[in-house]
Amino acid sequence: MVDLRKKSYLKILDFTEEELRYLLDLAKEFKRKKKKGEFHKYFPGKNIALLFEKTSTRTRCAFEVAAYDLGMGVTYLDTSGSQLGKKESVADTARVLGRMYDGIEFRGFKQSDVEDLAKYSGVPVWNGLTDYCHPTQALADFLTIEEKFGTVKGKKLVFLGDTRNNVNNSLMAMCAKMGMNFVACGPDSLWPDEELFKECQEIALKNGCTISRTQNVDEAVQNADVLYTDVWVSMGEPDEIWQTRINLLNKYQVTKEVMNKANPNAIFMHALPSFHDLNTSIGRDIHEKYGLTEMEVTNEVFESDASVVFDEAENRMHTIKAVIYATLKN
Ligand code: CP
Ligand code: NVA
Repeated sequence: MVDLRKKSYLKILDFTEEELRYLLDLAKEFKRKKKKGEFHKYFPGKNIALLFEKTSTRTRCAFEVAAYDLGMGVTYLDTSGSQLGKKESVADTARVLGRMYDGIEFRGFKQSDVEDLAKYSGVPVWNGLTDYCHPTQALADFLTIEEKFGTVKGKKLVFLGDTRNNVNNSLMAMCAKMGMNFVACGPDSLWPDEELFKECQEIALKNGCTISRTQNVDEAVQNADVLYTDVWVSMGEPDEIWQTRINLLNKYQVTKEVMNKANPNAIFMHALPSFHDLNTSIGRDIHEKYGLTEMEVTNEVFESDASVVFDEAENRMHTIKAVIYATLKN
C-alpha cells in the first residue's frame, strides 16, 4: 500500500517504482476528473507557497492551477519580491513558511537548497527544478509516453544534447525505475554525472532495462520510440557559454532525418521552452551572433505530428496535482 503523506518530492531516486506508478495513476484519474468537470476540491483551507529563484511559465502555472482546482490558496514568491536569498537564508525562510503553509514548491539553483527547505520547514516540499534535476517534468513526460504507447516498459528513450542537465538526469532516473531503456546521446564532455549514471544503471539492471550513453546519433536513435531534447544552455549558465555549446551540440540537433532513423511511430519530446524558430529574443540574439535559425530541434520536427510537446506541458498540471494530493492528504 503506497503512502506518500507528509513526504517531500525532491528527486526521482527517492521513490520506488510502485510509488511512481501510484502518482502516474493518480494523475490519470485527476486528468479524467478535470476533463469531465468532476468535483475534486479536496483541500479547502489548505495553502501552499511557490518559491522561484529562476523564471517559469509551465511549472508556476501548473502548481497554481492544480492548487486552485484542489480548492487551495496559493502565494507566489520570487527573489525580486521577497527576502529569499538576499536578506534571509533558505533555512530561515523554510522555518517561517512552514509555520504558515501546508506545502512549499521551490525552483532554484542548488539541490541542497530544496533539500534544506524540506529539512527545516516541516512540511512537504516539491522540487520545481534545480540545476541537478527536474522531477515533476519527468513525471509529466512519463504520463505522456504512456498515453501515446500504452506502456513505457521495454520502450526506448534517447535524450540528445546536453546530457548532464537537470531534465536528462530526472528522465534517466525515471527510465531506470520504470523499466524503460535510456540512451544519453551527446559529446563526452557533457555526459551525465558518473555516480548518478552508475546508480541508474544498477537500478535498471534489476528492472530489466538498460541505461547507456554514446556520442553517435545514428547508433543511439536506432529502434527509438522517443527522441527527447532540451535547450543547449540552461537557466543559470553564463551567456559566454553559447559559442562552446553550439559547437559541441550542433550535430545533436533533432532534425527530420534523425526522426526518420528512429521507429516509424516515434514521438518527439521537449520540456519547453524551446529554440525552434526566431520568435524569441534569445533566438534572434543567437541568430545575429552565430547565424542559427533553430537550435536543439528544427521547426519542422517541433511542429510535426510526431511532436507531443504541448501534451507534456498540459500533463505538468495533472501530475503536479497528483504530487500535491498524495503528499498533503490526511
Ligand atoms: N518545462 C518547464 O519547467 O517549463 P517552465 O520553465 O516554463 O516552468
Ligand atoms: N534545462 C532547462 C530546463 C527548463 C525547463 C533549464 O534548466 O533551463
